Amino acid sequence: ASVPVPVICVDGPTASGKGTLASEIAHRLGYHYLDSGALYRLTGLAARQAGLEPEAVNEAEIADLARALPVRFGPGRVWLAGAEVTDAIRTEAAGMDASRVSAFPSVREALLKLQHEFARLPGLVADGRDMGTQVFPFAPLKVFLTAGAAQRAERRHKQLISKGISANIASLRADLQARDARDTHRAASPLKAAQDALLLDNSQLSVDESVEQVLAWWQARQPFQ
Ligand code: DC
Repeated sequence: ASVPVPVICVDGPTASGKGTLASEIAHRLGYHYLDSGALYRLTGLAARQAGLEPEAVNEAEIADLARALPVRFGPGRVWLAGAEVTDAIRTEAAGMDASRVSAFPSVREALLKLQHEFARLPGLVADGRDMGTQVFPFAPLKVFLTAGAAQRAERRHKQLISKGISANIASLRADLQARDARDTHRAASPLKAAQDALLLDNSQLSVDESVEQVLAWWQARQPFQ
């Protein structure tokens, strides 16, 4: 029988700090890391490159692209069809496209297999919107991360500025609230906490404090190690 792969899910809204938290936990535990949002961002970009607007009339064609994404991941970098797109998928426009293609059920279905392939020993930390509810429902630890809209807009602002991309806090906040609304109210796998998720509001926590909290929860679930 195959050994079950331990999976830790970190779900939450846009700019809640999921990526920072999940990748740091993966690093500390020596686990693999899945940034599932990147797959939707890559699908949005692939659609644009194919001349397809992220609209319902193009759902079937976009799902075909998602099913056979020519993607390659390296440490902190990603390539689509051989071209590096690490920065190209991080823009606000790419995030909005990702949110739009992610509302298509057939796109979500098409990306399931790829996501499951990330679950390898010694373990996986996966971040996204539906890791705990749909993709890894049997994960022994699910964290639902939240933070106030003001904090999230401020963090996203800092992040963009540090990359030399200019941004306006008020419009970032409006953007992320629009994205949250779409991600939360869509019919297919909406953003919501799994019933067995532990809630973590990091508005007043440092990254280290959040990491320590999740590692403590993880330890508590592994009494024999
Ligand atoms: O986490 P992110 O900002 O990179 O995600 C981009 C978009 O992709 C987000 O607005 C919704 C979608 N998404 C999703 O529907 N399911 C996931 N598991 C991850 C992201």
